[in-house]
Amino acid sequence: LPEPARIAEFTLRVLTQRHDLDGETVLITAGPTREPLDPVRFISNRSSGKMGYALAEAASERGARVLLVSGPVQLDPPAGVELMRVQTAREMRDAVMERLAESSIIIKTAAVADYHVANVPKQKVKKTAMRLSLELDPTPDILAEVGAEIERRATGQLLIGFAAETENVVAEAKRKLQAKKCDMVVANDVSADGTGFESDENEVVLAMRTGEVAPLGRAAKRVLADQILDHAMQLRLALHKSR
Ligand code: C5P
Repeated sequence: LPEPARIAEFTLRVLTQRHDLDGETVLITAGPTREPLDPVRFISNRSSGKMGYALAEAASERGARVLLVSGPVQLDPPAGVELMRVQTAREMRDAVMERLAESSIIIKTAAVADYHVANVPKQKVKKTAMRLSLELDPTPDILAEVGAEIERRATGQLLIGFAAETENVVAEAKRKLQAKKCDMVVANDVSADGTGFESDENEVVLAMRTGEVAPLGRAAKRVLADQILDHAMQLRLALHKSR
């Protein structure tokens, strides 16, 4: 049996929990992708997946059915979410497109690698004394593809993207909002200390299709996850988007 304090905490959470996401299906991508260079090496980035997993937990606790498409991370999936593990941007794209139609809210937290090696050698690349050049091709931009698809089909699904920036955070968020046809872009300054990649905390600005810009103060990613979902639900009302 768990400790009484744990039981009390859990009971309190269940009793006070909102169920404002009942009936929603939330598709979330999280973590980095890995793009192989050869059978033993890959290109990736420092994404820990913490923000995406926090959103998955928050959405699930608020009553949503959660589909979590995750790159390789060191995290346990939150209870009750459906986890799909992927490695590459191509695999992430395929998983997202397969589950898109059944989703009412799509949140793209993943730090997708922007480039990959088109023809991965079958054997390990040997070390030589010579300089080695890599020829890289762009990966599919999943968010842009989803945004175009939602617009084309006029499905009313709510689309939320993320933007990790090192300068002009709000201007970049607004540019991405338009370029990728999102309803909201959650932007954070990854050059700041103690927030962003790998950290348990973050400080983000929300740029919304309505023109509203909402800075959320520095907080734990799990706390921000609930605030982002609060804004998403309000935004959907403002945009008259349907479930
Ligand atoms: O353009 P940038 O990569 O900064 O945009 C970030 C947003 O786009 C994130 O929501 C990320 O998940 C998404 N993205 C994507 N596919 C890519 C690159 C980024 O879905 N190939």
